[in-house]
Amino acid sequence: MKVLVIGSGAREHALCRSLSLDPDVSALHCAPGNAGTAEVAQSHAVDVLDGPAVAELAASLGVGLVVVGPEAPLVAGVADAVRARGIPAFGPSAEAARIEGSKAFAKEIMAAAGVPTARSYVCHTPAEIDAALDAFGPPYVVKDDGLAAGKGVVVTEDAEVARAHALSCQRVVIEEYLDGPEVSLFAVTDGETVVPLQPAQDFKRAYDGDEGPNTGGMGAYSPLPWADPKLVDEVLATVLQPTVDELRRRGTPFTGLLYAGLAITSRGVRVIEFNARFGDPETQVVLARLKTPLAGFLLAAATGRLDGEPALRWREGAAVTVVIAAHDYPATPRTGDPVTGLAEVAEQDAPDAYVLHAGTKRDEATGEIVSAGGRVLSVTATGSDLTKARARAYRAVARIGLEGSHHRTDIAARVAEG
Ligand code: AMP
Ligand code: GLY
Repeated sequence: MKVLVIGSGAREHALCRSLSLDPDVSALHCAPGNAGTAEVAQSHAVDVLDGPAVAELAASLGVGLVVVGPEAPLVAGVADAVRARGIPAFGPSAEAARIEGSKAFAKEIMAAAGVPTARSYVCHTPAEIDAALDAFGPPYVVKDDGLAAGKGVVVTEDAEVARAHALSCQRVVIEEYLDGPEVSLFAVTDGETVVPLQPAQDFKRAYDGDEGPNTGGMGAYSPLPWADPKLVDEVLATVLQPTVDELRRRGTPFTGLLYAGLAITSRGVRVIEFNARFGDPETQVVLARLKTPLAGFLLAAATGRLDGEPALRWREGAAVTVVIAAHDYPATPRTGDPVTGLAEVAEQDAPDAYVLHAGTKRDEATGEIVSAGGRVLSVTATGSDLTKARARAYRAVARIGLEGSHHRTDIAARVAEG
């Protein structure tokens, strides 16, 4: 099977890496890709938001499956355009991707499906904003309604900061604060059958100790030894299946990856958000543990055949990933800095630790790999337990050079200590 992956982050590098290890994959393409995907997949320049252009590329390459990584192309209808060309696409329609594209729409689906989530108000005027902030009290949770790459959410004790963020949004959702640890649970679905993957935890704040601004995610680990072993079954029954059923009932079935961002609160599991695609950086650790070949599984979802698929197989042990971010990420990341140490990791740490590229490219003139985005690398490692995986990940991180970069030093630290 020939496969085309759309996107250019560490998630896409992780997808390409897993697909490249699948014996059923005869050719692998990535558009636009990055310096890391280029090692395992052929890169193609394309405007990822242009559905007809992506469909044309897929047709000209003769691929049997297109995997759309990021949310923006999904919300723009790229999976629809590919399917309209008669090519299987892993990823929801623009209609179904609204579950991520609009927080208000996600709340509406959850209400209709009886899925537990934070109580919330959608506000349109300053008076409504003040009323909602007063109703919930601190800590305030204020969310831009539209896509914001994980950066549209402000959680603060400060009413003025909350109010200012709310006023800066076109449409804003203000909601109840959820306490308790967060879990990311992914499920692959063909619109009917729902197959949950292994849960992971992401670290959203920029700095150690969960300080600093929200980011797209600074690191992740899986599995979650502290989680109730029944968690996945419970979330499948109370969150994932009802949501997939509700979207199908509305005539907008969701095929692809449904990502539930959950809070395990003192009053039970609550949905913080849905995403319509693989999470980044959680994908890096979940796919590191998946033994089942990826291409056939994603194709089964894309073609409505998940029901007959054998159960997923998982590796024993654990995986940890640490994101190396550019100078001043997430505010105004600097690009164009050379990345060093990649060959050392490949020589000394592989296959237990490896570097997945996010914002990188090869400098045409010098041939060097340079930074080209906010999150630059996602250093991923596996081990028989979280302590070993974590040690390997940080050993590899220490070999990488990127001027002005920062990374968290506490990814999976507390859980590894037990
Ligand atoms: P979101 O983009 O909705 O995932 O929000 C980004 C991050 O903000 C989440 O991962 C949480 O850490 C935090 N957050 C969002 N909603 C809530 C909430 N209702 N209560 C507490 N924290 C929240
Ligand atoms: N890691 C959070 C996300 O992918 O949205």
